[in-house]
Amino acid sequence: MVKVLRTVEELQRWRAQVRAAGRQVAFVPTMGSLHAGHLELMRAGRARVPAERGELVISIFVNPTQFNDANDLAAYPRDEAGDLALAAAEGVDVAFCPEPDALYPKGASTWVEVGGLDNHLCGASRPGHFRGVCTVVTKLWQLVAPDYGLFGRKDYQQLAILRRMHRDLFLCGEVVGVSTVREPDGLALSSRNVRLDPAARTQALAIPRFLDEVRARFEAGEREVEALLAGAGERLGAGEVHYVSAVDADDLQPVVRVEAPTLVALAVVFSGVRLIDNVLLEPGAS
Ligand code: PAJ
Repeated sequence: MVKVLRTVEELQRWRAQVRAAGRQVAFVPTMGSLHAGHLELMRAGRARVPAERGELVISIFVNPTQFNDANDLAAYPRDEAGDLALAAAEGVDVAFCPEPDALYPKGASTWVEVGGLDNHLCGASRPGHFRGVCTVVTKLWQLVAPDYGLFGRKDYQQLAILRRMHRDLFLCGEVVGVSTVREPDGLALSSRNVRLDPAARTQALAIPRFLDEVRARFEAGEREVEALLAGAGERLGAGEVHYVSAVDADDLQPVVRVEAPTLVALAVVFSGVRLIDNVLLEPGAS
């Protein structure tokens, strides 16, 4: 059984007990609507902190401050009972499921903002989004004080920003990145996928096909970004393209040639559902 904690005080009490017992903590923050991608993060956490040595903790919190569109927040899928059943099957010990007021009590006015990494990709098309992510992850990290916090590479910019924040704020423990989990047909798993109607679900396959093609061109020796991304508009044509960009994998600034590890990332909306995905191109690694 997963122990469900809903208040900050309960979580703090639990953390003090775990510390007193000398046990470790692996932490997977989520917004719920759990899928196999989230479960993979939990397995990666459990691999680092086996049951005999410590606790596997998740949080389920649809963080209002990272949504810049009220409709998107309202439409975000929620299924706490289903999530807790999946978490139990993964051996999760504790789920922190607070109400918004618990993490943002009346009068809360402190924000965490990481500079320099959010002027492109999702940062450019979702103003304030990463400020919301960084603020909530700081609050959660402070409460859970994990030895390992696990995040998916599907949200590569989020992971890069959180790594920088973790380093700059001297947060405890370690940030761990986990590979993207995909459907058998290549679509990256996302809580938003349930909102795709069958036609949009088929159209969305243009994303993994396009990224596979980019990788194939890169592996065939192409290094010019313009050539790597050629035809993006037509290939992703059924969707509304928010961005398709090639950026340096460390500082997330645009590049015109792939000479160092480079992230090709995109965000495309298919019938109202915004999907993101990416591929990492590593010269010298292939
Ligand atoms: P959420 O979208 O629920 O994702 C929680 C974690 O699961 C993130 O680290 C995300 O990168 C990872 N994830 C999602 N899909 C994945 C996939 N297909 N393969 C591997 N990992 C995947 O990201 C958030 O929530 C929030 O921004 C959060 C960090 C919880 C802060 O509110």
